[in-house]
Amino acid sequence: MQRRDDTERTAPTERPRPAWYFSEYTPVGVDLGSRDAVTAYDRNQGTDPEADDALLDRLGVTEGTRLVDLACGTGSLAVQAARRGAVAHGVDVSEEMLAFARARARESGVAPHWHHAGFLDYAHRAPLADVVTTKSALHQLPDFWKQEALLRAAGMLRPGGTFYLWDVIYSFEPSDAQGRLQHWIDTAGRPEGQGFLKADFETHVRDEFSTYAWIIEGMLRRAGFDLVSRAFPRTTHAEFHCRRR
Ligand SMILES: C[S@@+](CC[C@H](N)C(=O)[O-])C[C@H]1O[C@@H](n2cnc3c(N)ncnc32)[C@H](O)[C@@H]1O
Repeated sequence: MQRRDDTERTAPTERPRPAWYFSEYTPVGVDLGSRDAVTAYDRNQGTDPEADDALLDRLGVTEGTRLVDLACGTGSLAVQAARRGAVAHGVDVSEEMLAFARARARESGVAPHWHHAGFLDYAHRAPLADVVTTKSALHQLPDFWKQEALLRAAGMLRPGGTFYLWDVIYSFEPSDAQGRLQHWIDTAGRPEGQGFLKADFETHVRDEFSTYAWIIEGMLRRAGFDLVSRAFPRTTHAEFHCRRR
């Protein structure tokens, strides 16, 4: 198939998939793939290139660093990485998201490598990465497939390389779940036109696959990562900074 400008065809992966393999090109839950949703995404999500820069500083991304951002969305992190001279790859299942990311890169005068591919079928054909990131997206996969995605992320990193995960990940006690989730939904929702709606957070909890931090930690270790640090700024969100063994 002819690709639009610089998007690289990296899916399907090297092996044919069995019939039972997870279908990742029709994400569940809140619509993020339609043109309207993509246009509103940065406002709703609070995308902030300065925050992305601060993260890149923390991860030691400098000129020449090879970085892969899985589920890159509108591409801010990959673009900011490319602006500091990193060899940046942005991977996403949504053509609409990639079109937006490509336009952002053009405006910034940089050219990350864009890949229309998913966690489960992105084939990293470039040299092994120094840093792999994924923000606000791993919850799109059920837990069995999260483990598969983390194994694949480890496989594209050099030994000693950095893996960074940020997502809706629960750190409350399971017995507190109902109250904690209801509080999050009630306080995070914004009025129409100002951010994600209360109904979007309800959809997230009901239809997407966010899970507990202790499950994610076990998966990270089994994927071949050591934990460098972890943070739970809210009981509904977590970050894990890991090193590939
Ligand atoms: C909430 S957005 C996060 C985007 C970006 N990482 C950020 O921090 O703003 C989730 C993204 O994951 C993408 N996505 C969903 N399922 C995916 C999968 N299996 N593989 C790769 N990307 C996926 C969606 O298209 C969307 O761009």
